[in-house]
Amino acid sequence: MLFQILSRSCLILLSLSRSVYAEVVATENGTQLVIQNDRLYTRVDKASGAMDAVVLDGQNLLGTRSGSTGIFNLDCYCTPNGFWTPGSSQPTYELYSGTDSTGTSYGGIKMSDTYTPTGQTLEQYWFLRDGETGLHVFSRIAYYNETTPFLRNLQEFRTLFRPNSGIWTHLATNAVQYAPLPGSEAKKNEVVVQDATWYMGNTPDDAYVQQEADYFTKYTFQDTWRNHDAHGMYADGSQIGDNSTFGAWMVMNTKETYFGGPLHSDLVVDGIVYDYMVSNHHGDQTPNITDGFDRTFGPQYFYFNHFPAGTDLHVLREDATQYADPEWSAEFYDSIAEYVPNFVPSTQRATWQLQADLPENAKNPIAVLAQNGVDFQDNVFDTKAYQYWAEIDESGLANIPRVKAGTYRLTIYADGIFGQYIQDDIVVRAGEVEVTQIKWEEETAGEEIFRIGTPDKSSGEYRHGYEPDPTHPLHPEQYRVYWAVYDFVDDFPEGVTYKVGESDVAKDLNYVHWSVFGGYANSLRTTPHYGDGNVNNWTIIFDLEKSQFEQKNQATFTVQLAGAKTAAGNTDVYNASEPHSNLAYTVSINGKDLEPWVIPYYHSSSCAVRSAVICYNIANKFVFDPALLQEGENQIILSLPFNATDYESAVLPSSVYVQYDALRLEVSSTKKCGRKRAT
Ligand SMILES: *[C@@H]1O[C@H](CO)[C@@H](O)[C@H](O)[C@H]1NC(C)=O
Ligand SMILES: *[C@@H]1O[C@H](CO)[C@@H](O)[C@H](O)[C@H]1NC(C)=O
Ligand SMILES: *[C@@H]1O[C@H](CO)[C@@H](O)[C@H](O)[C@H]1NC(C)=O
Ligand SMILES: *[C@@H]1O[C@H](CO)[C@@H](O)[C@H](O)[C@H]1NC(C)=O
Ligand SMILES: *[C@@H]1O[C@H](CO)[C@@H](O)[C@H](O)[C@H]1NC(C)=O
Ligand SMILES: *[C@@H]1O[C@H](CO)[C@@H](O)[C@H](O)[C@H]1NC(C)=O
Ligand SMILES: *[C@@H]1O[C@H](CO)[C@@H](O)[C@H](O)[C@H]1NC(C)=O
Repeated sequence: MLFQILSRSCLILLSLSRSVYAEVVATENGTQLVIQNDRLYTRVDKASGAMDAVVLDGQNLLGTRSGSTGIFNLDCYCTPNGFWTPGSSQPTYELYSGTDSTGTSYGGIKMSDTYTPTGQTLEQYWFLRDGETGLHVFSRIAYYNETTPFLRNLQEFRTLFRPNSGIWTHLATNAVQYAPLPGSEAKKNEVVVQDATWYMGNTPDDAYVQQEADYFTKYTFQDTWRNHDAHGMYADGSQIGDNSTFGAWMVMNTKETYFGGPLHSDLVVDGIVYDYMVSNHHGDQTPNITDGFDRTFGPQYFYFNHFPAGTDLHVLREDATQYADPEWSAEFYDSIAEYVPNFVPSTQRATWQLQADLPENAKNPIAVLAQNGVDFQDNVFDTKAYQYWAEIDESGLANIPRVKAGTYRLTIYADGIFGQYIQDDIVVRAGEVEVTQIKWEEETAGEEIFRIGTPDKSSGEYRHGYEPDPTHPLHPEQYRVYWAVYDFVDDFPEGVTYKVGESDVAKDLNYVHWSVFGGYANSLRTTPHYGDGNVNNWTIIFDLEKSQFEQKNQATFTVQLAGAKTAAGNTDVYNASEPHSNLAYTVSINGKDLEPWVIPYYHSSSCAVRSAVICYNIANKFVFDPALLQEGENQIILSLPFNATDYESAVLPSSVYVQYDALRLEVSSTKKCGRKRAT
């Protein structure tokens, strides 16, 4: 494709830039604050705290303000009443202008507002530099209240670039996932099938319906943070006078202030370009807001670009990804650090390097530095802790620049390898290059009898996971489409039976193990199908020779899950009246049930039903007596409780479910435990 062969220098030539360098102008009066350079004009309205104009090369990108649309602002789900949009309670503003250490002129706006009933402060910062067509943003939430030290959890914290304009024609999550925006006829005729999910097949000529899917959900466009660089919207020019093309992109130049590590995933674009700084959409925990909570998220870069008519979406998005680099603009951020509370300047940072000796066959290895002492998926307990990760190269080296000085847990994992490497107390001192050397051996509990699936923290390799949907020309990965389209009962009328050595994970194992299929929130199969043990129970068959298990003392069956939904959904809230708040998952070996693995409510995710195959990962080792094994054919049952459902307040399926990452059976002549994987 065109965009792949264009170099950065071509992009710069192609981009409609007028490189007239001038000062950024920052002005205010009683009603508004403006920061602008020769190409980008942006304005914050003092009555609402929202940015209500973003104009690039004379083109209005936000459109006409109407209610909560046509604005670029901050909100949270963080008060005792839930959502709050700061800016109209008791807002204060500051206007900044100056020249940074590189000699570049900049302007900035700060909006600060306090939620009167609790004293919570939310702040939004927008900065514009000369020569750039984007806004550097920071968002802060602070709570100082000694009389009520525990407020609640920070359930959502986000900025939203929310246009009300007909110019935008496409959504883009990453280089692979993009689609036209559903048109107004499609929206007029849409039918709700699930929470925030619509059937749009009533308008078969709509571009989205033709190219992407018959269903639209914001979750179709979610992404996992690991490799995420830039997402946003594209205007193909068909709705613009001179037909030139525009983009509005949220660039993840830094990821250190988010939570959940590289496995975290969230909404990115659905007609709104989001920066979801905090949420529990796919089941991650969220931080508590307690007395002294004070965290600034960012910097992120909202980048706007303008290209000639006919320029492809991918060219504009690629242009944005050049900024997805934590070292980019570092001098500028140091120059404005005095205005941004909690921002960590370069003098309090260091480069961390890894030299790793990895297990053979480790694919796509990654090193993560995050809160010390806890699983990186749970790095919400220390709200001062930051997170980093880097891909490890073929020679075992990884390099992470600009790490905030501190003490970290190092976690390393890789595709194809069970378990992960964990080392606490990695100290990173400001101003130094810290080198960590490690040797990681894959965990083992003896000789491997079989493995099923690829340990990669995802259920994407199973049926209806990453496989492209053949029915629409954009071929979205199937898990991204409304899950009910892939009817479990039609696919597996007799249930799931997987024969080791013969079956194919991409066909014979579904990407979700349901307890019940159909019913509430399934618009295609409206009556629940419980089966007779052939929905909630899956069967694995494998042959053994006597020599494989005789004189063995211990057998270990490892179950790694890429996600599990208990009655707690994504809430992490225990509901005593729900029998499956903690979910009992059972494995039976040749008819003998092992002690169930009770998956706790706080490890529950809303995963497949929100178009995901990577959620909160957990694992268990079922250790048993090899005397349960036999010569010839053996059978393992993977069992969820029969007909296990829960109360759902939103239109979401009530069945509990799990999504497998990978399974493995091992036998050992010595009784020892493999290194237990942190869960
Ligand atoms: C601020 O400036 C804008 C644009 O010039 C104008 O419309 C508005 O009335 C001004 N507000 C005040 C209070 O001067
Ligand atoms: C602290 O929180 C309590 C309860 O929400 C509230 O009544 C009080 O006004 C808050 N204090 C401050 C200083 O905002
Ligand atoms: C812009 O595109 C529209 C339809 O896509 C076309 O009808 C029109 O002629 C184009 N205008 C220019 C100036 O190219
Ligand atoms: C939040 O507070 C609750 C109640 O004290 C506690 O159970 C939970 O572990 C806390 N979570 C975090 C992330 O601090
Ligand atoms: C499913 O498997 C479990 C575990 O062996 C067993 O207890 C149960 O009777 C099976 N059948 C049904 C319908 O759940
Ligand atoms: C707990 O579950 C019951 C139904 O079992 C439901 O009525 C109730 O609203 C739930 N409570 C919460 C806090 O969700
Ligand atoms: C399954 O559970 C539902 C509600 O929890 C109940 O109404 C139904 O009778 C159960 N069906 C079977 C076959 O047990």
